[in-house]
Amino acid sequence: MSLITLDSMEDGSFAEVEAVVDGTAESLILHRSGSNVHAWLNVCPHAGRRLDWAPGKFLKSKEGHLVCAAHGASFELAGGTCIAGPCRGDSLRAISVEVREGEVVLSA
Ligand code: FES
Repeated sequence: MSLITLDSMEDGSFAEVEAVVDGTAESLILHRSGSNVHAWLNVCPHAGRRLDWAPGKFLKSKEGHLVCAAHGASFELAGGTCIAGPCRGDSLRAISVEVREGEVVLSA
């Protein structure tokens, strides 16, 4: 099932989508990087809050890190590791996605 089309995301931007992961409906963070997309559960390892301040609205620092809107934890976007803030060293849970014919889909 398509989560979103690649074309609808600007390069470097984030999007939020709902998907069923391991039988549970989850909110996912998507980040486009060129022709690739990375995905993580939209659950901060600090206090379990969503990272967006409004649905699909994520903060990006001037260094290019994803910043949790709740208490400011910063995550690098290659691996989703928290590099500053209250959960430093913890990671977002990565979800495997791939781009197939212009559609972002969960990897089988
Ligand atoms: S819940 Fe994300 S920094 Fe606290």
